[in-house]
Amino acid sequence: MSINMMASILAMTMLLLSVVVCNGGLTGSYIRKPWSVDMPLDSDVYATPSGYNAPQQVHITQGDQEGKAMIVSWVTMDEPGSNEVHYWREGSPDSTLVAEGYHVTYRYFNYASGYIHHCLLKHLEYDTKYYYEVGIGHTVRQFHFMTPPEINPDAPYTFGLMGDLGQTVDSNNTLMHYESNPKKPQAVLFLGDLSYADDHPNHDNVRWDTWGRFTERSVAYQPWIWVTGNHEIDLAPSIGETVPFKPFVHRYPVPHKESGSTEPFWYSIKRASAHIIVLSSYSAYGKYTPQYQWLQAELAKVDRTRTPWLIVLLHAPWYNSYNYHYMEGETMRVQFESWFVNYKVDLVLAGHVHAYERSERISNIKYNIVDGSCRPVKDESAPVYITIGDGGNVEGAADNLTMPQPEYSAYREPSFGHAIFEIKNRTHAFYSWYRNDDDYATQADSMWFFNRYWHPLDDSKTSISQHY
Ligand SMILES: [Fe+2]
Repeated sequence: MSINMMASILAMTMLLLSVVVCNGGLTGSYIRKPWSVDMPLDSDVYATPSGYNAPQQVHITQGDQEGKAMIVSWVTMDEPGSNEVHYWREGSPDSTLVAEGYHVTYRYFNYASGYIHHCLLKHLEYDTKYYYEVGIGHTVRQFHFMTPPEINPDAPYTFGLMGDLGQTVDSNNTLMHYESNPKKPQAVLFLGDLSYADDHPNHDNVRWDTWGRFTERSVAYQPWIWVTGNHEIDLAPSIGETVPFKPFVHRYPVPHKESGSTEPFWYSIKRASAHIIVLSSYSAYGKYTPQYQWLQAELAKVDRTRTPWLIVLLHAPWYNSYNYHYMEGETMRVQFESWFVNYKVDLVLAGHVHAYERSERISNIKYNIVDGSCRPVKDESAPVYITIGDGGNVEGAADNLTMPQPEYSAYREPSFGHAIFEIKNRTHAFYSWYRNDDDYATQADSMWFFNRYWHPLDDSKTSISQHY
């Protein structure tokens, strides 16, 4: 390439790429291809581990309230095999511990699952690397994970944020970018819609197995915190499937009972300096329902002197300015938004819309049926709402936006990607979003979060958007 050509490419790039210190109201104009298909079944990302009955689809999630337990799950296809997990602290292989789990199976139309094992490892030490093994004989497979630091208001911790992942080439790109992120995130907050098996004929549950093998390379080594999305419902009365959430609850257990929840669809965990509340957009949440009562009690239990960062995860966004799933989160917003403002929630994360959007700190809680004052207003006690349903699934990107962009929408762009929430201490956290089309370190949108309890100043001017 000639020097002249390089110079003109550089000049064009400078014109196309603008870095903006912004205070709301930007739409990235980057247009990507709108459609994807699931990776073929013989793709190498779905490779089955060799050996008879070898454990596959290994995944872990936090197993208690405080981060001292881990649920290890895996699938054996030929026979039940062992329910045991052997595990030890790094450097102490001679003091191997053994935990006994259990296994379940389920049928879905004409599909019969493998043997799905779950095993709780308890009384783990904080901030410690553990190795663990599943399987027997020649098919033992070894993995490892780090436990979080002891709960402390200034404990730094780095979460990855992903949603609506699916299993296309774009999904693989998202996971690859996540794994390569130089911030080295330690756990994933996954905003729902995992496998998209239900987009295949008869909800082909083989696609739950392939998704489990595809994601193992990350989720076997760090916990993913699960949210229930609409693609987890798997309700199909026409083929006799009348029990909602069947594949999801058999495969992805969560520690809901530890937080006093009666169902695995809403629960909470604490991790490092964060109190994380998971809600279900697809379970009843009206007054008197179990989820309503649980959330009311849960918010009253949050201790910001122990866990300063209050983060809520749900699937259907409350503030969404795309022409997809428009206002699907509205009834839940009406029900709970005033609570979030009263309790000064820092951040609400959602998926569902296959795009990216970050809001200003706004609330819309003045409205009642007679006063007519229904309008989002700037509110320093309100959370920032982030939609990150841009994992890259088979349904493609949400590239149709409402116009004009509403004032409450700080930045939006229909590109695939992931984000990072990097807690520094009790007052500051750095948030950054990464699009798949950039290199691994490019922060396409970022913002310093000031904690709403310890440092409730205006943080809206800290955002930087790097858009095409
Ligand atoms: Fe969804």
